[in-house]
Parts: sequence; C-alpha cells; structure tokens
Amino acid sequence: MQMPAAPTETKVSIEGLQKFFRTGHTKVIALDNVNLAIPDGQFVCIVGPSGCGKTTLLRILAGLETPSDGRITVVQGDKNKPVNSMIFQEQSVFPWMTVKDNIAYGLSMRGLDSKGKDEKVDYYVKKVGLSKFAKAYPHQLSGGMKQRVSVARAFANDPEILLMDEPFAALDEQNKILLQEELLRIWEETRKTVIFITHSIDEAIVLGDRVIVMTAHPGTIKADVKVEFARPRGVYELRAQPEFGKLAYEIWGLLRDEVLKAKREEGAE
Ligand SMILES: Nc1ncnc2c1ncn2[C@@H]1O[C@H](COP(=O)(O)OP(=O)(O)OP(=O)(O)O)[C@@H](O)[C@H]1O
Ligand SMILES: [Mg+2]
Repeated sequence: MQMPAAPTETKVSIEGLQKFFRTGHTKVIALDNVNLAIPDGQFVCIVGPSGCGKTTLLRILAGLETPSDGRITVVQGDKNKPVNSMIFQEQSVFPWMTVKDNIAYGLSMRGLDSKGKDEKVDYYVKKVGLSKFAKAYPHQLSGGMKQRVSVARAFANDPEILLMDEPFAALDEQNKILLQEELLRIWEETRKTVIFITHSIDEAIVLGDRVIVMTAHPGTIKADVKVEFARPRGVYELRAQPEFGKLAYEIWGLLRDEVLKAKREEGAE
C-alpha cells in the first residue's frame, strides 16, 4: 500500500492552555499549561486518569468551552469544510432520524446537493457495514451499530479535525475490536487529523501514531510517546507482537502513578 508523505504541517497547536471552572467560591483547575503541536494527518491518542481534564480539552478544541488562558489554533485548509466533528462517549445519534439521515446530517446542514450527499452517505453506510440498516431507526440498532453511525457521520462530514471522546468505551470487547478495525481502515483512507481519548492503553497503541499521557488533576502533559508500528494495522496481529507488550508496559509505567494519585484525591474528598 502506498503511504502518503510524512505529515509536516502543524494542524492543531495548543500553547500554554489553562482552564479553570468556578463553582461558588471554589476554583477547580482542570487543565494547566498544556502545550501540544499536532501535525496534519496524525492520529493522536490521549490517556490519563479520570478527572484529569481530557473531555475538557476536547470540548475546548470543539469550541464548546473557552480557554481561561493560552491559545488554541486549528489550521483551516478548506473554508467549506467544518472545522471539527466530535464523537461522544455516550451515543450521539438522533433517535428520530434513520441511519442514513443521521449520517447525512452534517452534509445537509452544509447544503450539499442531493447527489453528492447520497453518494457520500452510501459510501460510509457501506464502510461501517450498515447497508441493511440504512432505513432503520436508532432504537432498532445495537449499541455497537449506533456508534458505527456516529463514526460514519463524523467521517462523512469531512471535518478538518476529528475529536473522539472514548467512543468505544461502552462496547463489549468483540464489538470494540471490530469498530477499532473499521476505524483503522477508514482512517487509513482519509488520513484525517484525529484526537482520540481513551482509558485503554491497548486501544491507544492500536490506533495512534502517538500517545499523550496526562497527569492527574490538574491535567497537563506528562509524556509524549511515539507509536511506530507499520500501517495498515490489524488489532490482534499488532497485539501479538512482543514490542506491543513492551510499549503498553512502558505507558502503564507512566500512567500508574497518576491513576494512584487521582484515586488518593478521590478518597480525600
Ligand atoms: N462544567 C464544569 N464545571 C465545573 N467543573 C467542571 C466542569 N467540567 C469539568 N469540570 C471539572 O474539571 C475536571 C476535569 O473534568 P473532565 O471531564 O475534563 O475529566 P476527564 O479527564 O474527561 O475525566 P473522565 O476520564 O472521567 O471522563 C474535573 O475535576 C471536573 O470535575
Ligand atoms: Mg471525560
């Protein structure tokens, strides 16, 4: 398979980012001095203990929260494309729309002509294996199928960056692996810039070009680990490699203290 040129242009730049929340008289610092430069086309995974500010970071990137300090820049290559699409942990499909209409939602908002829209939607319906369910409604689908709809919608939207907040966390192991493989295949075709949050070190290594490890609350970047396994990747083939185990152990070594620290803080509250 031909590989595109190594990415060089910085797509997302985060500089000195801080975010605090005020509730009554208490000020919670969620993120502190986060600095990160993400090249165009890179798949970045972020791991960190619960409450360290991962979702907050993604919400800031999506424009749903404003930074308290620092700067975020997303380079927009094509003004006609949406800047981002976000896939949330909890299912984010519209229950009153069919699979097809859910996937087409962003494209309809952009006023794409119906032929272009149909072609794109059909392509992604097929890619995520939902052809037979194109006219079904979300209540007729399993949890895994609903997340497939979210993945298809995000890619059909063709955003500048894709933000994914633990999209597969609620799925069973088998469905999770199938969705990881589908995501890998679609991503390898599109090479979108992706920021993917997960609690699973295995998932981060299987998917990412790079794993960012965050500290316990307040969240900042503790380590930036390269994942250099060749692509295309297969989930189980990769997991079977001894280097995979070594890297997972290395990342767990970085994460462990932060998880313990977060647990101690939880206990102290
Ligand atoms: N709207 C808000 N108001 C007040 N505090 C908030 C708000 N949103 C987040 N926080 C606090 O900011 C911190 C980071 O929360 P965030 O949801 O980003 O963590 P997380 O890393 O995504 O956690 P998890 O892994 O459990 O999803 C937490 O202490 C949380 O209580
Ligand atoms: Mg979160």
